[in-house]
Amino acid sequence: MAVNSADVQGWGKMYGIGVGPGDPQLLTLRACDVLRQAPVVCVPRSTPGEMGYTWEIIRSHLDASRQEILHLHFPMTRDARELETSWGRAVDVAAERLAQGKDCAFVTEGDPLLYSTFVHVLRQLNRRYPQVEVQIVPGVSSILAAAATARVPLADGDDCVAVLPATGSQEMLELALSRFDTVVLIKVSRAVGRVLDILNKLHLEDKAVFISRASSSREEVVGQVASLRGRDLEYMSLIIVRK
Ligand SMILES: C[S@@+](CC[C@H](N)C(=O)[O-])C[C@H]1O[C@@H](n2cnc3c(N)ncnc32)[C@H](O)[C@@H]1O
Repeated sequence: MAVNSADVQGWGKMYGIGVGPGDPQLLTLRACDVLRQAPVVCVPRSTPGEMGYTWEIIRSHLDASRQEILHLHFPMTRDARELETSWGRAVDVAAERLAQGKDCAFVTEGDPLLYSTFVHVLRQLNRRYPQVEVQIVPGVSSILAAAATARVPLADGDDCVAVLPATGSQEMLELALSRFDTVVLIKVSRAVGRVLDILNKLHLEDKAVFISRASSSREEVVGQVASLRGRDLEYMSLIIVRK
């Protein structure tokens, strides 16, 4: 694979790379390949000055003496205008390099097309720079890593699985938890109180398991989810409810 070759119009390629859930060994061979060869690596972070979770996963594969590392700021906010501005800025910064014929690898934890910043980057890139060729390198999602850590099967036979953010509507959370055999609640950190209330109401507390930083050296698994109430939880946390 020639990662440095500019396409016919002289523009570089954009790679959306899933770098997995935390353990650097869960990067795919393809992700490692692209990461090592790309002249520009775009690394998202939510707090300026902090290196971020993704950085820890990929740093050993990079060579700052020959690769440009772009730390791009994406604020953790629900303000639509602020988000749109940050996605647009990131695309413009990458596009400057792409226009010079340089390939860019944009890294995201887990998979790049599942609840990822790259989904928005891709949308803006397609709209504003349609000449740029995009390749996606899928990654091991945190959902799969968390299930493996907790040794909880996600589905079997005719089972149905729902994946949804715990920050969504109460109605949707209750619907999913009532109807699906397995429910994966991501983004639970700030919503854990209401999740516990709903699990309690539906008598599902004993079917739930909490997993934080799955596959990383700071992984945590909690079976008694009621004990999470009032705790300050890591953003990289989810709950699997398996009935
Ligand atoms: C913006 S989503 C990114 C999902 C990611 N694209 C994936 O495929 O796993 C962030 C949420 O994913 C979950 N998450 C990501 N990495 C995790 C990990 N290592 N362990 C547990 N949950 C994780 C958390 O619920 C977190 O709030």
